[in-house]
Amino acid sequence: MRRARQVLMTVAAVCGLVLAPAARSFPTTAFLARYWHTPVPLGGARIPHWPAFETRLSPRACALCHAAQYDAWKTSRHAQAMGPGVIGQLAVAGVRARGFAEGCLSCHAPGRGSWREVRSFIRGGRLHAVARYGVSCADCHVRHYQRFGPPLAAFLAAGRMIHNGFTPESAFTRSRFCAVCHQFHRDGARLDGVLLENTYNEWYDSRYRLEGVTCQSCHMPGGRHRFAGIHDPGFVRRAVQVRWRIRICGQRRVCARLSLTNTGVGHDFPTYTTPKVVMSIEELCGDRVCAGTRRQSVIARRINLDLTREYFDTRLPPGATRRLVYVMPQAAHATGVAARIVVYPDAAYLRFFRAYLARYRMTARERALIERALRHDMHTAYVLWSTHRRL
Ligand code: HEC
Ligand code: HEC
Ligand code: HEC
Ligand code: HEC
Ligand code: HEC
Repeated sequence: MRRARQVLMTVAAVCGLVLAPAARSFPTTAFLARYWHTPVPLGGARIPHWPAFETRLSPRACALCHAAQYDAWKTSRHAQAMGPGVIGQLAVAGVRARGFAEGCLSCHAPGRGSWREVRSFIRGGRLHAVARYGVSCADCHVRHYQRFGPPLAAFLAAGRMIHNGFTPESAFTRSRFCAVCHQFHRDGARLDGVLLENTYNEWYDSRYRLEGVTCQSCHMPGGRHRFAGIHDPGFVRRAVQVRWRIRICGQRRVCARLSLTNTGVGHDFPTYTTPKVVMSIEELCGDRVCAGTRRQSVIARRINLDLTREYFDTRLPPGATRRLVYVMPQAAHATGVAARIVVYPDAAYLRFFRAYLARYRMTARERALIERALRHDMHTAYVLWSTHRRL
């Protein structure tokens, strides 16, 4: 049982929760501190005298008038933030681990309604729609029915045609707005002196801050709500530069060099401890790898599941380059050379869910959820770049 508890602590840290309330509250403006106080009150007992289509707070209800934002958001990870991996762990943690659940929900489903639903779900009840929205429109935009948004179209706010207009807030256009869930407080969990979730600080120390390029500039270009990230191959490809050189040097020797530069990621590539990027070069003998010829380089921040050790941190800060050099006598039956860069966005969760299933006693309902999360994460890897040359 102690083992199981340790594993629980682990996942918590993998994605940001340190079991101290300070973990989430990044030092910030007075407005943001109030705005992100959890659980966030989206509605309330005092329902305004508006037509029902304006008082409903589900993402679908917003879609009636904000279709573009809805279509983009529903494909985003924010809309999937209450997936089986999160829900399964909440169920396993059970009622006694109330602080644990609330820690997770403050980032994965911060609305007050979701907290209520999850609490009853943990006691064996059903999970309804609200908690499944993940990070919803209302979580980011609504407090006590009132809408808050970027001051881009502030003149509209004055019109107060629908849902009593909105309160323009410049915080929506700043990186700090995202930091509440994407940056640990300075008292949060660290390994080797570095916070386990440090995206805002990485961005702050980069040239992007000086150039006025915010989280929103890259993740919400033109106000679009897709929030693309490491799971989107096209998005990642545009933000890195790959160089490849190969020649036969001297007596049947293969000399090759593969390099990857972080040219457009506004923080470390990748920023979290969960993804893994593997660069590799190998000689092919027919359709097999010639024995002993594979060389690889891993870009990741790898920590153990108990969060007590960091094995290595080879992530690339903005502008940095990783090189993989290959100098080998050509293998006897080599027919070609292959080089690849493969991204495993959920590498740490694969390790974690496997350990979790092996070590923890759970009900059939809980096991089914974690197995679904594991199956999902087994299929998120993709080839970022590859090449092949005949010998
Ligand atoms: C993770 C927080 C977050 C979520 C979730 C979110 N938004 Fe936004 N939204 C923002 C931010 C930040 C901006 C300002 C973006 C910018 O810099 O232009 C914004 C801008 C807007 C705007 C102003 C016009 C525009 O597109 O820039 C509208 C309208 C809007 N969101 C509606 C929605 C709706 C509807 C949903 C759900 C389908 C939603 N938002 C989900 C954070 C969020
Ligand atoms: C209320 C907390 C919260 C806020 C505020 C928030 N996020 Fe997130 N974000 C999350 C969570 C939780 C996930 C992970 C969801 C999952 O995969 O289960 C996530 C995922 C993401 C991803 C997806 C990464 C991937 O794996 O592909 C990006 C990109 C992102 N957020 C950017 C932003 C930006 C930009 C902002 C500010 C406009 C923002 N977030 C604000 C909680 C938040
Ligand atoms: C500080 C905000 C924060 C807290 C607190 C937090 N998470 Fe996360 N979580 C994230 C972000 C951001 C991601 C996406 C990045 C990643 O994959 O690491 C994520 C991803 C995940 C994922 C993988 C994506 C998925 O949907 O399967 C799981 C599982 C998860 N979190 C579970 C939890 C659990 C359980 C807790 C509570 C013990 C928790 N998280 C607490 C921010 C948070
Ligand atoms: C019946 C149509 C309608 C519905 C439903 C609706 N909105 Fe709006 N929304 C508007 C209009 C129109 C505006 C422009 C301001 C005004 O005139 O009220 C607006 C403005 C906004 C803004 C400010 C945009 C900016 O430029 O900063 C945000 C944010 C917003 N809505 C969020 C939401 C959210 C979140 C929901 C769902 C909970 C929602 N709205 C539901 C019609 C609607
Ligand atoms: C200059 C563009 C740029 C800026 C600025 C930027 N990002 Fe990213 N971000 C990316 C790219 C490209 C990726 C995909 C590659 C990767 O995962 O590192 C990414 C990935 C992510 C991910 C996926 C998880 C992971 O492990 O990489 C999250 C979460 C995220 N960004 C959040 C943020 C937040 C929060 C900010 C602001 C503090 C921010 N980003 C600023 C370009 C940017």
